[in-house]
Amino acid sequence: MNIVIVGQGAIGLLWYHHLAKSPTNLVSISCSSRTISIPNKYKFTDIKNQSDQFPITIANDATFAEAELILVCVKSYHVKAAINAIKNKISTQTIIIFCHNGMGAYHDLSTLSQACLALLTTHGCKINKPFHAQHTGLGHHDLGLINGDMSPLIRENITATLAQALPTLAFTNSIKEKQWLKLAINCVINPITAVENIDNGQLLDKRFIPVITELIREIIAVAAHENINFEFNELKETILQVAQSTAKNCSSMRSDILQQRKTEIKYINGYIVSLARKAGIDVTNNEKLIQQVKALDV
Ligand code: PAF
Repeated sequence: MNIVIVGQGAIGLLWYHHLAKSPTNLVSISCSSRTISIPNKYKFTDIKNQSDQFPITIANDATFAEAELILVCVKSYHVKAAINAIKNKISTQTIIIFCHNGMGAYHDLSTLSQACLALLTTHGCKINKPFHAQHTGLGHHDLGLINGDMSPLIRENITATLAQALPTLAFTNSIKEKQWLKLAINCVINPITAVENIDNGQLLDKRFIPVITELIREIIAVAAHENINFEFNELKETILQVAQSTAKNCSSMRSDILQQRKTEIKYINGYIVSLARKAGIDVTNNEKLIQQVKALDV
């Protein structure tokens, strides 16, 4: 399959590395225009902590024109610019897959003629240095259609190509529910760990129960307005389980702050607040956390 990966962050390099291993894939990577120098090799540290260097094929107009699949692996605040930069270079038949955290990054999906999918991951991956990614935790992917239509054959082909590269991966017809669950998890774990400068597991401390409870109540009210129904105890249990299973991890938002990168707060808690304002729902705790994160944000 002809594939272009957009973005050379942790998730971009993770997919590039695994997809390029297959001789049946032609994979290239499009690096951010902000990149000062692009090497001809990248470094990858795998799940067994083995590091090696691999050649890198850079995308160009020809690889974009021939792409059957594009994986957009940029931060949520770069999604719009990334799509605007490529939409006239690609075929209307090209399938676009969005891999970012958060929601609301691309408001005008319906203006795209291409079918679009969302890809949610629980794999752990980080960037040690530019062009050096490390796969830190095995996880699962959920893939689902968020715009347009595609034939069952194309859907099966894409699912098989991605699942072969980086198992486990499943196609789901409930992608909206799964996006909301991930959003709810991120809305609680990310800002608290970022503001408190703590590992995910420290969130299980009793002192965080009141704020976690209030955040979940607000998220449930906003989700219900979007026809997504969560049960309080079940959602709380799931969030705390994620904090437990990623106990030693530094959340992506905390990492962004520690490395003086812009956070994705606008597309995580900010998405909840923007929906809440339209619906007239009180989300004081989400608003308060946004202010606290913004005070630390670049
Ligand atoms: O954004 C993150 O860091 C992750 O999605 C999660 C689940 C909060 C674990 O660190």
